[in-house]
Amino acid sequence: MKRILVGIQPTGGLHLGNYLGAVRYWVEDQAAGESFYCVVDLHALTVPRDPAELRRETLATSTLLLAAGLDPDTCALFLQSHVAEHSQLAWLLECTASIGELRRMTQFKDKAAKGGEEAARVGLFTYPTLMAADILLYQATHVPVGDDQRQHLELARDLAERFNARYGPVFTVPEATIPPAGRGARVMDLQDPAKKMSKSAESDQGVIGLFDPPEVIERKFRRAVTDTDSGADAVRFDPEHKPGVSNLLAILAATTGSDPAEVAADHHSYGELKSAVAEAVIGLLRPLQARYRELEADPAALAGVLAAGAGRARPIAAETLGRAMDAIGLVPALPGSNS
Ligand code: TYM
Repeated sequence: MKRILVGIQPTGGLHLGNYLGAVRYWVEDQAAGESFYCVVDLHALTVPRDPAELRRETLATSTLLLAAGLDPDTCALFLQSHVAEHSQLAWLLECTASIGELRRMTQFKDKAAKGGEEAARVGLFTYPTLMAADILLYQATHVPVGDDQRQHLELARDLAERFNARYGPVFTVPEATIPPAGRGARVMDLQDPAKKMSKSAESDQGVIGLFDPPEVIERKFRRAVTDTDSGADAVRFDPEHKPGVSNLLAILAATTGSDPAEVAADHHSYGELKSAVAEAVIGLLRPLQARYRELEADPAALAGVLAAGAGRARPIAAETLGRAMDAIGLVPALPGSNS
């Protein structure tokens, strides 16, 4: 049976890259097997966060997932910190991973480079082992992620295989499900199309927030970086030579469910393409924003959904953790002695 596990950080405003590269696929796939959707609040602690803001954004992210169409009767939606086994298994996996392989993680290198490695939190370094724990606890077979998480997924697979080889078969080795290139796998920043659209971008002018009002979305697309080519075939999908234009085409294609090269044939100027992509994105986000406002008005209902989700997640997580602890040689506690 297919079992899906995904995580999303409650960091900053969610953006179009999160939606096109991840969330909409989760909504489409939620009934394809047993599905677990985890708002990874512990991962958010790897960089400085204001406590009140973290709390607010954790709830906002959960609400947004429901607004996007996750159905709590079909899947389990829960907070990482509500299932203690995530942190416990992370420790066993920290004792499985090597410093060398964590040091090779490009996301650590990029983020640590910003403030200097000496000052980076230890959690930023060990982050991928917590992510592996999120996945392996649920014996996930499939993990739908955007292209930027490919390396973390490879590490989760390596750790599962290594643990199984050392201590016996405990973990399912998960597969990454990454959308095809040009279909939202990597939505780029509108101002700097060499970088992925990201919550941690220095300026938000190239990032379309899921809560941006229509006039802001229009303005950001109007100002999107393209190039100075004015030839008859200037609007074409060529990510290597025309990254800005190709990103707009990929967004339009992902939004309308078509192919970026085909979409290019329908547009003859950058101005026209920018208006079309802005209109498509505004149309995509309008119902999501309206549903969000309805759900936001009932925080008790959200608390109930998260409690039920954690209730479904916990027994599975506890069983896997118990097997892993046993396999690695820890003496089992007598029933009831640690509760
Ligand atoms: P996070 O919170 O940064 O992103 C959530 C999802 O959005 C995808 N994504 C993108 N896709 C396309 N274009 C972009 N510009 C873009 N930016 C983000 C991400 O690939 C991801 O699928 N480490 C993870 C969270 C995590 C996790 C997990 C994921 C923790 N545990 C277990 C899967 C399974 C992260 O920071 O994603």
